[in-house]
Amino acid sequence: MANIIIVGTQWGDEGKGKIVDCLTEKSNVVARYQGGHNAGHTVVIGGDKFILHLIPSGILHKDKQCIIGNGVVVDPLALITEIEQLKARGVPVTRDNLRVSKNAHLIMPYHVILDGWKEKVKGNKKIGTTGRGIGPCYTDKASRAGIRMLDLSWPIQFKEKLRANIDDINCMLEQIPNVDKLDTDKIYDTYISYGEKLAPYVDDTDITINEAIKQGKTILFEGAQGTLLDVDHGTYPYVTSSSATAGGAMTGLGVGPKCVDEVYGVAKAYTTRVGEGPFPSELLDNTGESLREKGAEYGATTGRARRCGWLDFVVLRHAVRVNGLTGLVITKLDILDDMEKIKVCVGYKYTDKNGERQLKDFPKELPVLEGCSPVYEEHDGWKGEASAGVRSYDKLPKKAKAYIELIEKTLGIPVVIVSTGQDRDDIIYR
Ligand code: IMP
Repeated sequence: MANIIIVGTQWGDEGKGKIVDCLTEKSNVVARYQGGHNAGHTVVIGGDKFILHLIPSGILHKDKQCIIGNGVVVDPLALITEIEQLKARGVPVTRDNLRVSKNAHLIMPYHVILDGWKEKVKGNKKIGTTGRGIGPCYTDKASRAGIRMLDLSWPIQFKEKLRANIDDINCMLEQIPNVDKLDTDKIYDTYISYGEKLAPYVDDTDITINEAIKQGKTILFEGAQGTLLDVDHGTYPYVTSSSATAGGAMTGLGVGPKCVDEVYGVAKAYTTRVGEGPFPSELLDNTGESLREKGAEYGATTGRARRCGWLDFVVLRHAVRVNGLTGLVITKLDILDDMEKIKVCVGYKYTDKNGERQLKDFPKELPVLEGCSPVYEEHDGWKGEASAGVRSYDKLPKKAKAYIELIEKTLGIPVVIVSTGQDRDDIIYR
């Protein structure tokens, strides 16, 4: 199989975990390149549900190597917990199938405190983060104050860096009511013990992955979050702090662009978003509510209800462009099974002092985006016929096939996979 990057084309939660799980069968290495335990990938195997936050879902397969790249921010306790939970359920996790980059930055307790505090002071302008400390950790990385996985093996230097950071943080914490100052020694001891537990997995993952590529092994690059949450190409500032688009795979793992054969974008058959920020095709009515209930649209990480809306071609065109998508994966087609009519957003209507116009391209200016209203096209649904559980394209209801073909025609790329249910086997390869 080819080396494939899997990216989210919307605001995350597109069902990438299941697609990665399915494509892992044909890959040797599965590598995460950005984000942290803000992600939540749900994989259902024979009725057994696994929710993974940091470890690539490839871990559920025998003889596959999983890599957590340098671009990922790692909360060591979250990683240790995930490893232990997998082991407790009989999934082996060893150095043979899991490697974590030495260069991965660590989420520290102060990142979590700052994440919560920054959200609080933003009031109604809050981002709606997952509260996992992701933004402050990437901030430290960019400002060169970060602590990396390798630091845990250099106790003297680690303590020095930690002390400098905590001195700074404690000055800031003085302004926050009801928050105790942080104790360097306590955090040091805790993190050193995390380092000992994670030591078997720590690796020069850039060397490991490039060796694998040289040996002709196939790599699956697993993106987290989605294009519209990308720090450069998303709905800034309502984004996460990493490069969730395809380009992030290169810097987040230390590989060159020539090793990538395909870039598959994963899109739900409709759209969802969790957290704050603009969402032009959002449905605030019963249709939105029924998508949420039928699609079980509640976050795998925070349990928050996801906002739901129609499929948005303005968003998807942007995703095709900035990721260089070569194929699309449509998930949760079955959730539309009961719909009499299905709408798709084909453009945005925007009015300013020059009058009304229709935008075909995703606007970058937040005030413009916030002022846009969706222009819909309505299509017949396939109510009364089911796509749920269908495993061959020919057996899909005619109107469901027409929906898939409309997506292909509009975006100019093939739909290579369709997912028709939660289970690993509810899938159509085209
Ligand atoms: P953060 O990544 O926790 O800083 O959150 C920033 C924004 O990204 C918020 O709107 C979150 O809800 C959103 N977000 C982060 N991770 C995910 C994810 O895995 N799925 C969907 N939304 C996410």
